[in-house]
Amino acid sequence: MERRKIVAGNWKMNMTPAKAVELIATLRPLVESSDVDVVFCVPAIDIVPALTATRGTNIEIGAQNMYFEESGAYTGEISPEMLEGAGVKYVILGHSERREYFHETDEELNKKVKKAFEHGLTPILCCGETLQQREMGITLDWIKLQIKSDLAGVPSSDVANMVIAYEPIWAIGTGKTATTEQAQEVCKAIRDCIADIYNDSTAQSVRIQYGGSVNAGNASQLFAQPDIDGGLVGGASLKPEFGKIVNCK
Ligand code: 13P
Repeated sequence: MERRKIVAGNWKMNMTPAKAVELIATLRPLVESSDVDVVFCVPAIDIVPALTATRGTNIEIGAQNMYFEESGAYTGEISPEMLEGAGVKYVILGHSERREYFHETDEELNKKVKKAFEHGLTPILCCGETLQQREMGITLDWIKLQIKSDLAGVPSSDVANMVIAYEPIWAIGTGKTATTEQAQEVCKAIRDCIADIYNDSTAQSVRIQYGGSVNAGNASQLFAQPDIDGGLVGGASLKPEFGKIVNCK
């Protein structure tokens, strides 16, 4: 089965609303003729101006997080209903920075994944191991544990349409990319895990990205791997280089 590639930029905590609009104006012509799905996951305050700035283009806007409740007394949080109402299509869930600095648990992430689907949002669910876990040889066990916990009770029809991002924590923002073999090995293990929990057709349909120091020099080799369906890009998504990554062949 031919899966359409998806390249998403994770802007993290960068760009004021005015700068976001400027960056979109720079990147827009560089990504508009691509044959992959292009997503900009922008800070919450940039979502509305980014949606306006990308109207009528091939760029979809994503959020970087959301809460699992519909509304109410949760100061500082953003609800799935708000994202849906604004016109957001994707939401990154469980990025390692949120797991580490904001103590997000798999139990919460499981609720967030389910809520995202209730509101027509496509989760980009992140998983990944620390350097210590890799050195201990427990990478694949750890990733499977994350995937199984985060997807518990999520139906196969939803999983088939979601995105999973494999991001080794030691490769994020370090310039130390996983080798194509390492990245492919884990992305294949994720697909096999989905086949185990669900079935082959769900596994063949779910899109799996690699993230961690993706740049214009390594993207084409990574994205050419049989189980890697694109990338989740941090630092390089804030530069014209992102256009090269999106268009790499
Ligand atoms: P870098 O591309 O800056 O390493 O970040 C990867 C990442 O965390 C994307 O979500």
